[in-house]
Parts: sequence; C-alpha cells; structure tokens
Amino acid sequence: MFLVTGATGQIGRQAVRLLREREEPVRGFVRLESNYSELEQRSADIFIGDLTEEKDIARACQDVKYLISAHGSGGNAQALDYRANIDLIDHAQANGVEHFVFISVLGAQRGYEDSPTFKAKREVENYLKKNGLNYTILQPSGLASDLLPLAERFRNTGFYLIIGDPKNRTSIVSPDDVAKIAIDSVRIEGARNQTFPVGGPEALKREEVPEIFSRIFKRDPITVNVPLAVLDTVREGIGLFDAQTQKSLGTLRTLSANEFFCTQAEINQLETTFNMKMESLESFITRYLGT
Ligand SMILES: NC(=O)c1ccc[n+]([C@@H]2O[C@H](COP(=O)([O-])OP(=O)(O)OC[C@H]3O[C@@H](n4cnc5c(N)ncnc54)[C@H](OP(=O)(O)O)[C@@H]3O)[C@@H](O)[C@H]2O)c1
Repeated sequence: MFLVTGATGQIGRQAVRLLREREEPVRGFVRLESNYSELEQRSADIFIGDLTEEKDIARACQDVKYLISAHGSGGNAQALDYRANIDLIDHAQANGVEHFVFISVLGAQRGYEDSPTFKAKREVENYLKKNGLNYTILQPSGLASDLLPLAERFRNTGFYLIIGDPKNRTSIVSPDDVAKIAIDSVRIEGARNQTFPVGGPEALKREEVPEIFSRIFKRDPITVNVPLAVLDTVREGIGLFDAQTQKSLGTLRTLSANEFFCTQAEINQLETTFNMKMESLESFITRYLGT
C-alpha cells in the first residue's frame, strides 16, 4: 500500500492517478473539506484526516509499505512543511515503511533565511537522511501547473507579469513528471537514498515564458516587469499592520529574487535513472490548454 499526502494537490493527485493506472493499492490522505471525489472514482483508499494532527498521521501510516509526502503548507510552514513531515517520518519508521519519498524544493539546502518553507524542507531533508529509512528526496523547480492560470490569462489578454530580474533562470517542471519519478523511486535501485534536483529540460529565463505563451496562443505579449524593490516596499508596508503576512511573503520574495534551475548534467542523470524524457513547458501548456 502506498500512502500519498497532498493527494488532492498538483503532484499528489497525479501520483494517485498513475498508481491506480498501474493497479497499485494507494491510500490518499485528504481533509474532509478537500475535493477528493476523483480519488474515490479511481478506487483509491480515502483516509480523512488533518496533517496537523499526529494521531491522524499515526493511523494513516498503518499497513503502509511506501510513503510519498507531497502535501503543501498553505502558509503554515512550521506545522505542515516541518512538523507533519517529521511525524510522518517517525510513524513511517515505527510501521516498517520500506521507502519514504519526500517532495522537497530546488535550493532547499541554500539556507534562505527569509523563507520558512525552504528552511523546513532543509531540516526535514536532514532528518530523513539520518533516520535510517530508505528514502528518495526530490527537489522540484517551479511546477508548470502553477503557470496554467497565467497562461489562460495570457490567452485572453496577452498580459504577463514578471517580478524581479527577467534574466533569472528556472527549470519549470511538469508535476506529471515529478509524480512519475516519485512513484518509480521506490523500485529503482539507483534512486535509493538519493537526492535529485528535478527540473524540466530547459533552464528558461523568466522573460522567455511569455515568448512561449506567445507561440502557443499566437498573440503578442504585453509583459510588465515589477522590480524586486516594489515587492519589498509592499512587504514592508504590510509588515506595519500584519507581521504574519509579511513573513509568509518571504517565500515569494525568495522565489522572485533567485534562480532555480537544474544543470544539463542533473537533467541527464534524472532521465537516465528514471528512463524518461522530461517534458518542456511548451509541451505541457499545449497539452493542457491546447490551441
Ligand atoms: N508548486 C510548486 O511550484 C512547487 C515547487 C517545488 C516544490 N513543491 C512542493 O511540492 C509539494 C506539492 O506541492 P503542490 O503544488 O503539488 O501542492 P498543492 O497543489 O499546493 O496542494 C497542497 C496539498 O496539501 C494538502 N494539505 C494542505 N494542508 C493540509 C492539512 N493540514 N492536512 C492534510 N492535507 C493538507 C492540500 O489538501 P487540500 O486539498 O485539502 O487543500 C493539497 O492536497 C509541496 O511539498 C511543495 O512544497 C511545489
């Protein structure tokens, strides 16, 4: 039995889909308010709980052989990016789980002080490596699915917003590829106890994204570039009356200010280990939104 957390999320939902297509037994950890009917239709085992509750994690981990941690935090990095993953690791070990796949983030080990999520991912990676479980850590770059609403807006208006340096590079990756890699990690010998940066085939400059949309939707881009200083000013202003929101904008600041791309050698290693070709952003957007 696989346990997938974040089973209604971009990566988790796709992982459950693929596992059911392979007729593998899978338990999706979902909240009661989640939209999980698709998982039921695929005959996944539904576990209703909340990852902020350790007792729910303890119950969900029973009779589990493989665990894929793919949940997000919705701004609560301490409880979900950190604590829930530590609890999942502890209960996985107590229940004899054979392999733990952790979806981290590209750059987790760079020590970005401003982002609680990046810090939590780094601490969880370190904990998992020391813990004695078989593991695979996947560090995805930005997900192509996050760009779908922006691509739809572009299709309707031609508008595209870039925050920060338009020359910054990112290896936008398909969540479908990340999900496939997560599943295959538990059976591929070369993935055991390894950490993989996971990116799409191209290190794209941010300014290249509207050019790709322009090709797909056959319209000229109207690109607006907001300098990082504007985000900083807005953050400072918000901080005067809402320190929590100011803090949670730290991850956006980190993502906007830095480059998140994989080297060609890293992509080659990924494609060789998992015997696949990583999908480009252009192919992903065309596949989902068509023309
Ligand atoms: N998005 C990116 O660009 C990106 C890049 C690199 C790494 N990652 C990492 O990849 C992982 C998956 O990201 P994603 O974008 O696929 O996720 P997502 O679409 O944002 O979905 C988050 C998932 O976590 C679940 N969740 C949140 N709080 C929960 C709680 N208290 N109890 C149970 N479930 C809870 C959500 O359930 P509901 O349906 O109930 O809300 C949802 O299924 C995350 O660890 C993220 O940090 C993401």
